[in-house]
Amino acid sequence: MRRKVIAGNWKMNMLPNETISMITELAPKVKDTKNEVILCVPYTDLFYALLTAQGTNIKIGAQNMHFEEKGAYTGEISGSMLRSIGVEYVIIGHSERRQYFGETDETVNKKVKAAFKNGLKPIVCVGETLEQRESGKAFEIITNQTQKALEGLTEDQVANTIIAYEPIWAIGTGKTATNDDANESIKKIRKKICQIYGQNVSERVIIQYGGSMKPTNAKKLLEMSDIDGGLIGGASLKVEDFSAIVNFDR
Ligand code: 13P
Repeated sequence: MRRKVIAGNWKMNMLPNETISMITELAPKVKDTKNEVILCVPYTDLFYALLTAQGTNIKIGAQNMHFEEKGAYTGEISGSMLRSIGVEYVIIGHSERRQYFGETDETVNKKVKAAFKNGLKPIVCVGETLEQRESGKAFEIITNQTQKALEGLTEDQVANTIIAYEPIWAIGTGKTATNDDANESIKKIRKKICQIYGQNVSERVIIQYGGSMKPTNAKKLLEMSDIDGGLIGGASLKVEDFSAIVNFDR
């Protein structure tokens, strides 16, 4: 049985004082869950988040990283920098980064490799636009994105990658994929991984759903056969909402 992994993506929200109070309030509410709890916070909050989450079951992640180790890349943060302060996870290839910051399948693949090299666990985002969905290309798009992101990894690394299927039209829009549609897309991603890396790997890899997940729809989504967790934007900013999603099965 795969574990459920519930990750918050705060995006460009929250100051250090808000980070400290949010995690302080959240920790007792999620301490008894058997699900994995991750918060991916802005760079400026990482240190405060790590300190506040110490001794709790809340793990901390970043939202992006550069693929080079160091050098003349003004404004960038490397995997070794993240790891050096105790960060465990990093979101790679979020659709907002692909859309606004020129992230490509190639840079995503480089970043995934650099994440593993530095002992970070990548959460790799894939997802189709509404236009791609309506023209029947969704499965092709998401399986291609997955294949390219994982290129050159060992089987063990693939098994330890978290994939987040986030249909772009469902992000921040209040529109959620139906439970069946989300499950179907995730099955297609798993099947692709099975074709390339074998069944053992594909049955181990965690594939989350993301896009307007909230307490009212989380339980049904998270109970589907292939949905192994959620990557949650808006609802991860509120203790009540996020803890309710983490505790969907309690
Ligand atoms: P929302 O939950 O706000 O739709 O955001 C989803 C997302 O992009 C998480 O990475």
